[in-house]
Amino acid sequence: MRKRFTLLLILLLGFGSVRADEGMWLPNLIGKLKIKDMQAQGFQLTAKDLYDVNEGSLKDAIVRFSSGCTGELVSADGLLLTNHHCGYGQIQAYSSVENDYLTHGFWAMSREQELPNPGLKVSFLVRMDDVTKQVLRGVRPSMTEQQRSDKIAENSLAIEEKAAANTHYRASVEPFYYGNQYFLFVYEDFEDVRLVGAPPSSIGKFGGDTDNWMWPRHTGDFSIFRVYAGPDNKPAPYSPENVPYQPKRFLTVSTQGAAEGDFTFVYGFPGRTYEYITSEAVRYMVEKGNPHKINLRTIRLNIMSEEQEKSVQTRIQYAFKHARVANSWKKWQGEMKGLIRRNVIREKEEAELDFMAWAQNKKEYAHVLPELNALYRELEPYAFARDYVNETYGAIELVGLATTLITPDMTELDERQWNNLHNYVADFFKNYSPVIDRRTAIRMLQEYDRNVPEMFQPAILADYKNQYGSIEAAVDDLFDRTMFVSQDQIEELLKLDPEAINVAVKADPVAQLYQDFNRLYRSGILPEYNRINREITPLYRVYMKGMMEREKSRIFYPDANSTLRIAYGKVNGYAPMDAVYYEPYTSIEGIMEKDDPHVYDYDIPQSLRDLYAAKDYGRWKVNGSVPVCFIATNHTTGGNSGSPILNAKGELLGLNFDRTWESTMSDVRYDPEICRNISVDIRYVLFVIDKIGGAGYLLNEMRFAE
Ligand code: ARG
Ligand code: GLU
Repeated sequence: MRKRFTLLLILLLGFGSVRADEGMWLPNLIGKLKIKDMQAQGFQLTAKDLYDVNEGSLKDAIVRFSSGCTGELVSADGLLLTNHHCGYGQIQAYSSVENDYLTHGFWAMSREQELPNPGLKVSFLVRMDDVTKQVLRGVRPSMTEQQRSDKIAENSLAIEEKAAANTHYRASVEPFYYGNQYFLFVYEDFEDVRLVGAPPSSIGKFGGDTDNWMWPRHTGDFSIFRVYAGPDNKPAPYSPENVPYQPKRFLTVSTQGAAEGDFTFVYGFPGRTYEYITSEAVRYMVEKGNPHKINLRTIRLNIMSEEQEKSVQTRIQYAFKHARVANSWKKWQGEMKGLIRRNVIREKEEAELDFMAWAQNKKEYAHVLPELNALYRELEPYAFARDYVNETYGAIELVGLATTLITPDMTELDERQWNNLHNYVADFFKNYSPVIDRRTAIRMLQEYDRNVPEMFQPAILADYKNQYGSIEAAVDDLFDRTMFVSQDQIEELLKLDPEAINVAVKADPVAQLYQDFNRLYRSGILPEYNRINREITPLYRVYMKGMMEREKSRIFYPDANSTLRIAYGKVNGYAPMDAVYYEPYTSIEGIMEKDDPHVYDYDIPQSLRDLYAAKDYGRWKVNGSVPVCFIATNHTTGGNSGSPILNAKGELLGLNFDRTWESTMSDVRYDPEICRNISVDIRYVLFVIDKIGGAGYLLNEMRFAE
């Protein structure tokens, strides 16, 4: 029944049109494009409630958190919620073997105990405007692509300068629809953002990498921060004199939850999607890029896990690194499965045939797809080599350190740069295992040697084999001899005079590895890769324009590009495979079903077991249980982590933190039958703050819906 209904819906909407619930919409255009549809689906507010430059609106409660997440304000005193995995770096930075906040959680019991985080920034969107006309002023069809992009850069800079003039704001102009449209974004950045609370990882990361990208899920993926401002409520660098920021708007919390079928929307900063790429681009992804990258990361993850099992210190040091490597590794697998299962390559090929038939006699468009396809074939070997350099050579941690020490001319560093260098070295060794790095380097270079064509082989790999008989022996020797693996030696080195440092780093055995790969990458791979892409990009601009012209009644949404978006849909289960249907809600019962003191990912805190045994849920009890996570059809992607998921009245229902495995394909093709975003229910968040953290006082500053 469900299947037939969806099929009917797809037929009604027509092939190629936006599928129900698909899309990430710009908040300032939502009134024009989508508000009617949102309201028809249950939304009870207006476009002005979402986005308004004059009055406070919901957008004023949303921030871009650091560079890759979203956060939302939930109190008049700048209290901010985001995911645990978004605050992970900050929590880890304050954790040590003795004081392990990652493991045990952290709860500031007063404002004095809130912890500052140098380098952490949150950004509010002040306003956004369509500036297409101004950006394209002076751009002529007769211009070369280079002239065109120079002109656009010049115009954009002028627009940004004007927008930020005499303010403390930051302005940036961004292209949409591959440069068919441009928008100006004005941001206000705050840099005094303090850690207020985090649950133990066994809650915040419950299920770990095993459950990551999967449903059913039981993760309490949240952490709490507070935004501080100067006494004038304006952004200020960290100072003990700063005061909690008073936001223009903060979210009201709903403790009512949502039922299957209820309207929801997600407001946040999705990173990147590729909804309009051609079949050739998808083919590379599915048939070549992803399988190889997955294989390389499997090897790295096995090495890390083995060493992490051996020592608590290594486990903590590599917790973040492991999670980061595993995250894309697992995502790519789900994405491939989904794209293959849905036959997306064929689907795109068919759509391209239709486009070409339409474009046949149109001078502007007829050439586009054949040219794009030819360019993709040309690009493939370079894309492959580039992927390999990044995933193998780029995975050797020592190379990162070498880059920092070999690239700059030490005689030219000013004081600030010296400080940065010392900090970088200290940070590097805080979380470094020479054993993991050595084993990784051996395996990665072996894989490079085995899989990458001759023309992209750096001389050094042949040298290694000739001189040492094997890559393994060569890398072993390199790790024995290099000074880069020793913090003491590096710190001694940095005491020498700059001239001597220059000489010493270049004499180190790592230097040759670094130089050979860099030379190859910079001269043999990147220039061609970039040249071909410079030809591809403008063709997409034309292709996109053509698609929009061809389907005039279809509303195209722009690919995600880390700008503020609204996605809407409804709470909804799904059928991931034959004979299986997934319910949209999980509960505390499911945590207990997974609980296992012997499995790291599922070993919950004793306090949670005790609360469960006593059914001591306080005001968070719902039908004798506590709701934990739920899924909905909102179209989201990486960057939406920490985004609020809101109900029809704009009240906070939970925090988005993931998608189901089957839906990671939605970066390329959204499928309403299986694409679901995963959120942690706000009631579970509040339960954990209150009952596990004993920080219920924080709830007093929140506003709850009637
Ligand atoms: N998959 C989510 C995202 O892309 C969560 C990642 C963090 N969690 C984890 N278990 N690695 O960011
Ligand atoms: N966990 C992702 C993030 O950090 C969100 C999941 C997704 O890719 O949709 O943004």
